[in-house]
Formats: sequence, structure tokens, C-alpha cells
Amino acid sequence: MSKSPWWENAVFYQIYPRSFFDSNGDGEGDLTGITSHLSHVSELGADALWLSPFYTSPNHDGGYDVADPRNVDPRHGTLDDAKILFNKAHDLGLKVLLDVVPNHFSDQHVWFQSALSAVKGSPERSRFHFLDGKTSTTPPNNWISLFGGPAWTQVDDGQWYLHLFDSSQPDLNWENADIKRDFEKTLRFWIDLGADGFRIDVAHGLVKEDISKNHHDPQGLSNALRLDVEMSPEVRGTLLASVPFFDRNGVHEIYREWRKIFDSYDRPIMAVAEAWVHPPERATLYVRPDELQQVFNFDLLVAPFDDKEIFDCVDRTLKLIGSVGATPTWALSNHDTPRLVSRLGEREARAMALFTYGLPGAAYIFQGQELGLPDADLLDSERQDPAFFRTKGLQKGRDGARVPLPWEGYRSPFGFTTGKPWLPIPQDWEGLTVEKQNGDSSSSMELYRELLLLRKRLNAKKSGDKPEIKSSENFTWTQRPNGSGLIAYKRGEIEVLLNTAEVELVLPRTGRMILSSEHSSSLNHDTSIPRDDLDEKITMSPFSAMWITCDPS
Ligand code: NOJ
Repeated sequence: MSKSPWWENAVFYQIYPRSFFDSNGDGEGDLTGITSHLSHVSELGADALWLSPFYTSPNHDGGYDVADPRNVDPRHGTLDDAKILFNKAHDLGLKVLLDVVPNHFSDQHVWFQSALSAVKGSPERSRFHFLDGKTSTTPPNNWISLFGGPAWTQVDDGQWYLHLFDSSQPDLNWENADIKRDFEKTLRFWIDLGADGFRIDVAHGLVKEDISKNHHDPQGLSNALRLDVEMSPEVRGTLLASVPFFDRNGVHEIYREWRKIFDSYDRPIMAVAEAWVHPPERATLYVRPDELQQVFNFDLLVAPFDDKEIFDCVDRTLKLIGSVGATPTWALSNHDTPRLVSRLGEREARAMALFTYGLPGAAYIFQGQELGLPDADLLDSERQDPAFFRTKGLQKGRDGARVPLPWEGYRSPFGFTTGKPWLPIPQDWEGLTVEKQNGDSSSSMELYRELLLLRKRLNAKKSGDKPEIKSSENFTWTQRPNGSGLIAYKRGEIEVLLNTAEVELVLPRTGRMILSSEHSSSLNHDTSIPRDDLDEKITMSPFSAMWITCDPS
């Protein structure tokens, strides 16, 4: 029997290095701090880390502005610290996924600096997108930055360079062979140091089309790129599909080459694409057999707490991703989006976790999601996100979700640092620290621990020596949306139910509740299922989810 790859049902815990743990008191998290607190991740039940960038960077975009992709920024430590971190993670049974940022460099990268001092048309400039303007004061086209404002900045000799994000993040020209070679070198460098894979930033953006032409619908372009504009997913999707710098067919050539690199190693290396594409069928192209292993599915990240919407996302994803034989991925939050509790509400957040992490496929958890952290309220003077500045405050940006983790004690910064944290940690997070939640059966963290333990048993390929839950890849809807607010699915002996209604539901089910978003976790993590203890009816609180035993047939 062929062994399934490690990433198939893995739980990836996303670490935002700046905000995880600060070991040296400078107010910013670092690699040594991560190493010293990895037990939090392994005890949670994760299988892998995804580390957001920690490379040399002036940090204008939280490290996604990379000045040297093969080195560690001094604020985060050294290459030796990275090696120690990877080794410790492996000792704990955790795989290590790194962020690779191939759409752009920082303007401090040596290649961009030499492009600035080189002449028009030079090989140095051809590594980026330097163009003459339409007139001496008009950029080459009307594209806009995802962070607001034009996507072009003019340099001293009158040319303009393209940046889909901040002006400190010049886009790379993937038609230039230097770029291709340099990224291949970067991938190998980190794999050789111990990385097990990559999360590919803006994976759909590397190839641009019609760069000298204006986009035909400037307002549509602007709306497609602004996540804060209210519009139906269909309308946004249609607009997104027309963006001339996303999801061009040429990107797939690049990933086919990368896949060859991954496969040249004698241990399994994987990558997951960050690709916001439309229609959803386009996402399957990134996970064709000779490309990447996973593509993020952002549907649940933006879905409201609504039975029909959630059902549609899950059903579509399972069908589409299944159609190419790839692994579905599930994420409820990340460093770019509002935290789950702030987006949906506290009860809803717990319920969504129970519902989502029972699904087959890989699960992604953003640090602090397990603690039930909300977004922090910040003063405008504390904000650092370039999106806040480039939109002149119109968009508040993503800092609220990036506040450092509260670890212990009663006073902010709750053990995160001995210095001043780079963003203030609200004092009212006193009840949300890891220390406080540890052993508290009603806490979010204990719920996640129990959930991930049960999930592991559910996904176990071989039942091992404690086969309490029969392993099963099977997935069947047992309740599609019917107006009651309930949706449910079954996998083997487990049925997972979600009540999105504001009212209690009494369900004619024969089964035993083994996990509920409303009840305390059992803490003894006993997942055995006594078959003689079956209820006739299951009562579900409003906005709740449950795992119950059921007839496996
Ligand atoms: C997506 C990353 O997740 C985000 O944080 C970053 O700002 C942009 N890509 C640009 O790199």
C-alpha cells in the first residue's frame, strides 16, 4: 500500500515570527523565541509549521519585502538560529514550511539598487518592470496597487517601475532568466537547510499581461483588489478574472519547474499556492499532478456564518479539488484577514473550527486562532501596515490581527517580551493567555487540542493500536441546507453537525456527542466510543457545532 504524503491531512500552524515570542527583549519575536515555544504548537496537535518571512528585510510589509531571500533578518536572528529551529521542529515531529516571495523583492535588494543606478534598457533594469511612461508624467498604464494608489513609481531618469504592492516592493520580471535561477537557488538553499516545503506568496501574480496597455475597467480593477468593498463573491470573482496581472497561464510553467526541484530530493517536499483566482476551477490548475501539492482555498476565510454559503464552499471545494486528485485545504484566518472571533463572533468561531477541521484535507491555523483572540483595537499612530498609509487611512489594514501572542501573567505584554512589544497587547487579553487557558476545559485552546486529537484519529490511515474511531476517507453530506440552519456530514463513524441558526435545534439522531463547541473539553482526551450509550435525540444550541458517533454505514 502506498504511503500517503505527510501533507495530505496535516494541520499547519502559521507562525508570524514578529509576533510569536521575543527572546531578546527588543519587542519583536525571533527564531530563538519560536524554538523555545514550539511545544505549544506540538501540544496543540499540529503536524507542521508555516513560518511567515523572517528574511533580511527593511520590513515595510511585515517581511514580505525581502532584501536577501537567503538570509535571516538580524531582528529575527541568524541562519544558525534557523537551523536550530528546523531541527527542534523535526525532533518534535513537526514539518517546516517557509514562505517564498517570488512576485517582488524589497527595493533594498542589491539587484534593485543596481537597477536604480543603471541606465534605461540595461540588463539590471530588465530584472524588474521598468518602462517609460505614456507621457513624462503619466505612468505606463492605469494599474493600481493592492495597497492603494498607482502601481507605478517614477525614478530619477523618468522611467517607472511596477509594484503591485507597496512602492518598496518592486515586481520581478519572470521573463528574465536571472530571476528564475535565483529562485531555484533560494528553494534549494532552504530545503538543504531542512525546510520541508513552501507557501508561495502571490503565486498567481508572477506573469503579467499587456503591460503597456491600460486596464479597460479602472473602477472594476480597483474593486476587484479591495477586499473591504462589499460585493457578492460572484461579482468580485468576475472582476478578479479580468485583472491582467493575476492568474495568467504562464505561471504554471514556473511551478512545473519548481516541482522538478522538489521531486529531486529524496524526502517529500511540498508547496501550497497563495492564489486568489476566479472562477474556482482555475485554482485546480495549480495542483495538477506535475505542479504544486496544495492551493489555498480562501472561500471559508471570507464566508459569512451561513449554512448555505458554508455548504456551497465546502461542496464545491471537495468536488473541484477531488477532480484533480489533490488535497483540499481549509483556512479560517491568516495574517491578512480579520481574526475569526472578530469576523464571526466567539460562539460562531468555535463552531466553525469544529465543523471545518473535521473535513478531509489539510487544515491551516493562524497563531492565536486557537486562543480565540479577537482583532486588537489600535490607535492609528500605532499602525504599520502599508495598506493603511497608501489608502490614507481608508483601509485600517491588517495590524489588528498581527498583535503579539499573550503567553502568561496578568499584565500586558503577558510574557511575550521583556521590552516594549512592536504592537501593544490589549490588557483585556488577560483571560486569553496560554497559561490561563491551559487546563481550563472551557477554554478555546483546550477545545482546539481536543479537536485536533480527534481529527488525527479520524484521519488515521491505519487504525494503529487504539482504533476508537474507524479510519475513513469517506465523506457524505447527511444534511444539506434546508432552511433550518443545520448542515452536517459524515465520515466513517463520526457525524459533524453545524447549527448556524440562532435557535436551538432538537435533532432525531441516534448517537453520542463526543465533542461540542458549547461544552467544555473532556481534558482527559478520551475518544473511545461506548456503543451502548446512545441518545435518541441530540439538542444543539444556537450557533454551535458537534461531533457525534453514528452508524458507519
Ligand atoms: C500576501 C501576503 O500574505 C501579504 O501579507 C503580503 O502583504 C502580500 N502578499 C505581498 O507580499
